[in-house]
Amino acid sequence: MDFNFSEEQLMIQQAARDFAQNELLPGVIERDNLQKFPKEQVKKMGEMGLMGMMIDPKYGGAGMDSISYVLALEEISKIDASAGVIMSVNNSLVCAGLERFASEKQKQKYLVPLAQGKVIGAFCLSEPEAGSDATSQRTTAEDKGEYYLLNGTKNWITNGATATYYIVIAQTYPEKGHKGINAFIVEKGWEGFVIGNKEDKLGIRGSDTHSLMFTDVKVPKENRIGEDGFGFKFAMAVLNGGRIGIASQALGIASGAYERALKYAKERKAFGTEIINHQAIAFKLADMHVNITAARMLCFKAAVEKDLGKDISESGAMAKLYASKTAMETTVEAVQIHGGYGYVKEYHVERLMRDAKITQIYEGTSEIQKIVISRSIAQ
Ligand code: CAA
Repeated sequence: MDFNFSEEQLMIQQAARDFAQNELLPGVIERDNLQKFPKEQVKKMGEMGLMGMMIDPKYGGAGMDSISYVLALEEISKIDASAGVIMSVNNSLVCAGLERFASEKQKQKYLVPLAQGKVIGAFCLSEPEAGSDATSQRTTAEDKGEYYLLNGTKNWITNGATATYYIVIAQTYPEKGHKGINAFIVEKGWEGFVIGNKEDKLGIRGSDTHSLMFTDVKVPKENRIGEDGFGFKFAMAVLNGGRIGIASQALGIASGAYERALKYAKERKAFGTEIINHQAIAFKLADMHVNITAARMLCFKAAVEKDLGKDISESGAMAKLYASKTAMETTVEAVQIHGGYGYVKEYHVERLMRDAKITQIYEGTSEIQKIVISRSIAQ
């Protein structure tokens, strides 16, 4: 693997780092407290090309590679993991899915503003009774000729209230199982589409997560993505790429906590010396450093394979599984190294610890990643 990053890759990494320091850091604790969406910041991220990073410029994107995406998402998530997931969902689940599978007309209408960051999107697969078991979709899309009639409820939808366009997965032919599922583009404001209550979450509190209700929503036929019955394959393909995004978010959470813990350990004195000179602390930091480096390598591997057009179901799952575990372990130890200071908000590591947990749950739990990986190696 070539680690001689190009000038463009280093530039976007630096731009994301500067943006995170200058624009995201100042209000991050307040947004976490108040569950406030970083509206202005997300708008600026769109202007910087961060919301459609890998999309062809002819569709409003920045035309960058996946390594640049990993680098930028790590920098954003180091400071504000809520901004990280907003960025990841828009880039990986929404824009990438549309660029790869939508019709030209759909791309012009929906992808262009989404990739430009003028509006944001949401990906609606999970349901009250279908999270990990994604083939058990209860939301139905009945074929009525000119349109589909959408009925059902989606749960835990990132960007649930702030999105303008929603990719909704629904069952059209229940008797066909996953082969009867379709994916649709649904617009906010359509009759019968209601945004439910905001979830009060443990972490990533700056991102807005909602349930969505659809009652007899008329979805024009031209808003179906791909062939009839392609919806489950669409969702799986999109999630493979999404897992690189969440892995990079987890990587950022871990490296953010590690950098803070390292700095603290070099400054804080106990028993007559900086605590980094105590092996109990130094060994924790050594473990963090190794694990974060390994997680970063797995993210790069999946990113490179994606750009080479390879099947990334295994590498995306490995990156997410390992990076999310690293995020959880690293943040817990970062709080421990900070002692009492780690338990209060102004030191940031307690927030990172709360933010880390979701990376082991959404876009496929760690257990789902192990299903994907074990099936892949068993082939
Ligand atoms: N890539 C491509 N295709 C895949 C795939 C993958 N990773 N996984 C499955 N498929 C294909 C299979 O090849 C199969 O195709 P065929 O019918 O042609 O053979 C089809 O999909 C059905 O697959 P399975 O028979 O393996 O289905 P399953 O029910 O046994 O299990 C699963 C599939 C992998 C467990 C899947 O249900 C899954 O990934 N679940 C997790 C869902 C998930 O990640 N949810 C996250 C919600 S989104 C979110 O969190 C967004 C947010 O806002 C942050």
